Amino acid sequence: MLQNRLEPVLDPRALARELSNKLLIDGALVPAVTGRSFPVVNPATQEQIAVAAEGTAPDVDVAVQAARKAQKAWAKLAGRERGRLVQECGRLLNEHVEEIARLITLETGKAIRTESRVEAGVFADVLVFYGGLGSELKGESVPFKPGMLTITQREPIGVVGAIIPWNVPLLLMALKIAPALVAGNAVVVKSAEEAPLAVLRACQIMNQVLPPGILNILSGDGPGCGAPLVAHKGVGKVTFTGSVETGKLVYKMAADKLIPVTLELGGKSPMIVMGDADLDKAVEGAVIGMRFTRQGQSCTAASRIFVQDGIHDAFVAKLKAKVDAMKMGDPLDEATDIGTIISKQQFDKVKGYIKLGEETPGATALRCSAMPADAKLGRGYFVQPVIFTGVANDNRLCREEIFGPVTCILKFRDYEDAIRQANDSEYGLAATIWTRDLKTALDATQRLEAGLVQVNQNLVVQANMSYGGVKSSGLGKEASLESMLEHFTQKKTIILNLA
Ligand code: NAI
Ligand code: MG
Repeated sequence: MLQNRLEPVLDPRALARELSNKLLIDGALVPAVTGRSFPVVNPATQEQIAVAAEGTAPDVDVAVQAARKAQKAWAKLAGRERGRLVQECGRLLNEHVEEIARLITLETGKAIRTESRVEAGVFADVLVFYGGLGSELKGESVPFKPGMLTITQREPIGVVGAIIPWNVPLLLMALKIAPALVAGNAVVVKSAEEAPLAVLRACQIMNQVLPPGILNILSGDGPGCGAPLVAHKGVGKVTFTGSVETGKLVYKMAADKLIPVTLELGGKSPMIVMGDADLDKAVEGAVIGMRFTRQGQSCTAASRIFVQDGIHDAFVAKLKAKVDAMKMGDPLDEATDIGTIISKQQFDKVKGYIKLGEETPGATALRCSAMPADAKLGRGYFVQPVIFTGVANDNRLCREEIFGPVTCILKFRDYEDAIRQANDSEYGLAATIWTRDLKTALDATQRLEAGLVQVNQNLVVQANMSYGGVKSSGLGKEASLESMLEHFTQKKTIILNLA
């Protein structure tokens, strides 16, 4: 437990410097064993705001040892008491929402009003939600034979390795650490190279409440720090969010140790807009679903929008007008709706897809909004949102995850055709249908191949709703009670012969 109560630091540059070159292991902020670090860059300006400690295998080992040691006592606490402490972390984090929002804005380029502040608040909310589930770690009694008492009980797994990406790092970390901790595990998190600071700060705040060693966080790159965490013999479970490619690597490493994994991978989520849909609602749903305020950097992004032919042109025009009205600019400015892409690498990737679309015969690219005028943002990784029409479902733009503000609107004639095309994808994370017809809506919920299907709305991840994909979108669910029970505990069957 950190002794001095942390006060919010509202200057994000000062906070970034304060958190520079630190890992959080066994309740203390320490540099990496090698002393090495890597730069953390503000993508809105390319200014270096901090360095992050470059954790490698020896740091992983120290963190896992600390976690193993701490977990023994943690597991002995009543579930409700662990929950109470996790809720206390949530309450404390609520006092730090503003500083965390500013910090995450600085390191990721996400707009503070539309994204960062919301994410910081949801982080605290997820902790409070899971903290309330500490008494739900129940087993069963199994009828067996007279004189035999047979019960099952849920036990923690031990040390959980959690690997997170940069797009919504706080939320995605919360969905892993909160259930893992409440279930009685200790956790070692590996943050994403591009966004190590806000998650480190959040864990530092939580360490004021949690016993040392229960929640550790390392920064470092994938092969150098993430891989040794997965491979470490003291880690009994890995939970990962990121790309399909890396997810498969993690799965293979975990298979060598025969440990369970949860994988939340990519998506190419379809949105079907039937001719009878409430057009304005559907357009609003496309703006939210496509996560334009997050520059489209979302695994659930509604990046394939199937619109029935009769309303296609009106839908395109209305969507363009809506996105045009959104303001791109300084992510820390309250007036900004859309910030920047996270990094040069992602910027180049997104630009590559836009070029590909522009070169596709028959395709039309509608560029929306306007680049920021401010000269100090001239080096920022801003990309104007692009709506493509005239692109077929077998085009790479519709097959591959772009992870940028690029969506394709595809025209369809009849419902059967829409369902067929929507399901014709490697992915199956989320899907929506927009219609006033109940029969069509119900039928689509049964036939769409996705872990989450919504009708006439496009809500983001909600605490208490199981979230996770089918097909290449992943394995397992997050965000719910079931996800805590199924992914962060192991079941023991106990038979007592009392005859
Ligand atoms: P990534 O999947 O490579 O990185 C995610 C996390 O995995 C990071 O913490 C990274 O350090 C770690 N990692 C990388 N290689 C590893 C390894 N060998 N062993 C263990 N951990 C490893 O994703 P990246 O490179 O950031 O982005 C590439 C693409 O992945 C994006 O363009 C996007 O399409 C997709 N992506 C999907 C996300 C989602 O939410 N489903 C999140 C981030 C990226
Ligand atoms: Mg990668």
